[in-house]
Amino acid sequence: MLHKLRCSMNLKTLLVCWIIAFNASLVFAVISANLEDSCSECSLCFEEPVPREDDINFSYEALKLPRPTTGLLYPRESETREVRSLDGLWRFIKSNSSDSQQGLLEKWYELGLEQTGIPTMAMPVPASYNDITVHAALRDHVGIVWYERSFFPPNSWEREQRVWLRFGSVHYKTEVWINGHSALRHSIGHLPFEAEISKFLKFGAENRLTLMCDNRLNDTTVPQGTVVYNSSESNNEPLQTYTFDFFNYAGIHRSVHLYTTPLVYISDIALHTDVQNKRGRIDYKLMVNHVDQTPCLLRVRLLDKSGQLVREQENTNLLDGTLVVPDVNPWWPYLMHEQPGYLYNLEFAIHAKDTMRLLDVYRMPVGIRSVEWNTKSLFINGVPVYLRGFGKHEDSDIRGKGLDYALLARDFSLLKWVGANVYRTSHYPYSEESMHFADEQGIMIVDECSSVNADIFGLELLQNHMSALEQLVHRDRNHASVIAWSIANEPRTAKNASKPYFE
Ligand SMILES: *[C@@H]1O[C@H](CO)[C@@H](O)[C@H](O)[C@H]1NC(C)=O
Ligand SMILES: *[C@@H]1O[C@H](CO)[C@@H](O)[C@H](O)[C@H]1NC(C)=O
Ligand SMILES: *[C@@H]1O[C@H](CO)[C@@H](O)[C@H](O)[C@H]1NC(C)=O
Ligand SMILES: *[C@@H]1O[C@H](CO)[C@@H](O)[C@H](O)[C@H]1NC(C)=O
Ligand SMILES: *[C@@H]1O[C@H](CO)[C@@H](O)[C@H](O)[C@H]1NC(C)=O
Repeated sequence: MLHKLRCSMNLKTLLVCWIIAFNASLVFAVISANLEDSCSECSLCFEEPVPREDDINFSYEALKLPRPTTGLLYPRESETREVRSLDGLWRFIKSNSSDSQQGLLEKWYELGLEQTGIPTMAMPVPASYNDITVHAALRDHVGIVWYERSFFPPNSWEREQRVWLRFGSVHYKTEVWINGHSALRHSIGHLPFEAEISKFLKFGAENRLTLMCDNRLNDTTVPQGTVVYNSSESNNEPLQTYTFDFFNYAGIHRSVHLYTTPLVYISDIALHTDVQNKRGRIDYKLMVNHVDQTPCLLRVRLLDKSGQLVREQENTNLLDGTLVVPDVNPWWPYLMHEQPGYLYNLEFAIHAKDTMRLLDVYRMPVGIRSVEWNTKSLFINGVPVYLRGFGKHEDSDIRGKGLDYALLARDFSLLKWVGANVYRTSHYPYSEESMHFADEQGIMIVDECSSVNADIFGLELLQNHMSALEQLVHRDRNHASVIAWSIANEPRTAKNASKPYFE
């Protein structure tokens, strides 16, 4: 849904669009002006935050930098890789808010949810769980929920393969079990996470996948919130409070995939593109999991939109290289060119050097463009660009923050209809599918981290915030559509404690 625009398009809406468009450009100001509190949006959407203590009696010297994220390439099929979706209806239990440990203590992940004696319900994945039923208790639930489903990995996956389980995003703190074995943990929303699960699997048999997630926000989570108890209520149910201006949806928000890779496989790819005059350039860095040190060769091929080979390169160095593309067809934003969003297809193939046997191949779309700026303008491929656009939300009735392709396509249609060429992912990373779509459609993205209204500054929050930002940049660095990063929305920088935090 377009940010704060639930009504149909009319003159008033257009006016709001412009205010929001202005706001998107503020992100640059936020980044360059060292996070001055600069917001025209507050009066539109925020209640005054409750004043909190402003002490800086801690030291950031103990700060641990986030461990760099690796892997998490978007699952794509190829001659060497299979992808299977686990989307659909999962079994679901909302746990008792007053007794959030119950499932862990009773080991529901070993037992199976049907054996708990608590009725399960069918819960769609991907979707927020909040608005699926007519029950306020589920909509306003604070605490833990459990999801479960079975799946069937074929016998053919047992040999010469690795099997991976990947979640597009879950809100928030999550633990995953395969057949009762803890396989994966993650705690920040809006971001993908994965693990190799081969060793937990029974091939050619039914397997159980169990997920527990906790939607509670506190002083150290990104974003922040506070759980309170209403003393005038007899049931002592917790309430989640927060200052941000959108509903705190929770659940398995994006697709869940099983996918395979060979034993020797490409685990990570980072691209940097540039355009000078009519010459394009792609610098690539690869991570290759090269278990047995077999001598290998990297073959890189760049195909144009019609599938014609444009460049080909053999590289005995598997880890980095450069492709030069003379007479390039650059990636242009919508309305800057008659063919916006031009994407090439880039193929990385690892071959055994002696036999030339194909070990792994991964293909990805790539837009070749340059982004530069000075104190006056932002330039795409050397041409100044004027940003016209929105802050959006991933938010709609029934599915909440759940990925929905129909909604995505409709939003892009609206963006183009109104003449927009950019949006800010206010106030969190949007789906990977939406990032791919933006690349294709030539819509520019100001890519925002999920820190919103940070108010109580501390070491643990900063560590989580840095990790959220690191994971976001890792996920989205290869998208032509991303023209800027937003590290936070409206942190309370009037507070003294924010100074050491941002320094
Ligand atoms: C900071 O001061 C508050 C209030 O005096 C205290 O409760 C808290 O423990 C202190 N924090 C640290 C890290 O010293
Ligand atoms: C939830 O847990 C509390 C505390 O253990 C208990 O008193 C209450 O009966 C439980 N509610 C339900 C619906 O099981
Ligand atoms: C805050 O939430 C995180 C994530 O759920 C949790 O790990 C942490 O223990 C919580 N902190 C406090 C003080 O409750
Ligand atoms: C607390 O409970 C009382 C009684 O049910 C209700 O009137 C009040 O609105 C509640 N307060 C909050 C903050 O929800
Ligand atoms: C913030 O710092 C300034 C300068 O040191 C000081 O005068 C002011 O009282 C501080 N504000 C608070 C709320 O502590």
